[in-house]
Amino acid sequence: MTYQGLIRRYGRLLDLPAHTQIISLLEGATPLIPMPRLGRELGCELFVKFEGLNPTGSFKDRGMTAAVSEAVGRDAQTVICASTGNTAASAAAYAARAGLRAIVLIPEGKVAAGKLAGAIAYGAEVIQIQGSFDDALSLVVEITQKTPIALVNSINPYRIEGQKTSAFEICDELGAAPDWLCLPVGNAGNITSYWAGFKQYQKGLPQILGVQAQGAAPLVLGHPVEKPETLATAICIGKPARGEQALDAARESDGRIIAVSDEKILEAQRLLAAEGVWAEPASAAGAAGLLAESAAGTLDARGKRVVVVCTGHGMKDPAVIADSFQAPKVISASYEALTETIQY
Ligand code: F0G
Repeated sequence: MTYQGLIRRYGRLLDLPAHTQIISLLEGATPLIPMPRLGRELGCELFVKFEGLNPTGSFKDRGMTAAVSEAVGRDAQTVICASTGNTAASAAAYAARAGLRAIVLIPEGKVAAGKLAGAIAYGAEVIQIQGSFDDALSLVVEITQKTPIALVNSINPYRIEGQKTSAFEICDELGAAPDWLCLPVGNAGNITSYWAGFKQYQKGLPQILGVQAQGAAPLVLGHPVEKPETLATAICIGKPARGEQALDAARESDGRIIAVSDEKILEAQRLLAAEGVWAEPASAAGAAGLLAESAAGTLDARGKRVVVVCTGHGMKDPAVIADSFQAPKVISASYEALTETIQY
């Protein structure tokens, strides 16, 4: 049978109300890509779950199909979210698909070009807030308490239901849960979803390594960060809505949540790209955490099966690459100039 999206594939395992009306862009079923070179360096069997290959370029589509399907089923007319960018693009696409109005609040000047462009292309009303993601989230929570507008941030439980499916897919693909699962942590919906998914699926449990950026690491510091800063803008979040659940997932899985520097995130982005997987910076944080822990000897990946979740596509944030590399050489359109340049 042809693939019909997450809810049709795994709906029996998702706690969605009877009124749910499926809105799908055939999200999910993303590849689990073997990374033999990087794996050899770490002495482990390494895979990337490449969530950047979802319809809008990030894992958010898994939760959004569920949240928008539920909202449509109870006749919501408008959805709203706060976002560092990917949720905005995803909400915009699924709302467009369903014929709903989408309003997205983003922190002014802190959203990568590919995400903002996506939200606009799908027809969302994009509003920049003079404040952080956390400020934007408070505003959308308030307005959805006072009006019938549907909230589609991961505070919405159906987002978590949809995002559990990635854990199911990994178990289906590998036959069992991996030994370690490494992933970025921002507002902490995704780590919560994976842990719930693995527990429910009963194919073994991974140890979970959640990774925050050093300038936005409230779960490592143990207190909110008023002014989070990181070039991994997707996870530039100071007060994660599901922070407690993230800490529970790390503790229950005998894993942990750590912070890595922006330099280490960029280095991991380069290493992944060197093996053919281009992830946006935040999306490389899981790999950065694995590399840092392995180098420090605090995580022994040797002989283990490890899955690194790359949550968003590199094309979401082209500026990060453009800013860190020199512009390509310009040569005349002649064969001589070409052979001279490539020294071949
Ligand atoms: N990776 C990417 C690419 C993201 O966009 C996000 C979150 C995360 C990781 C962290 O996931 O919040 O569930 O812990 N982006 C949200 C957004 C906040 O608005 O797009 P989380």
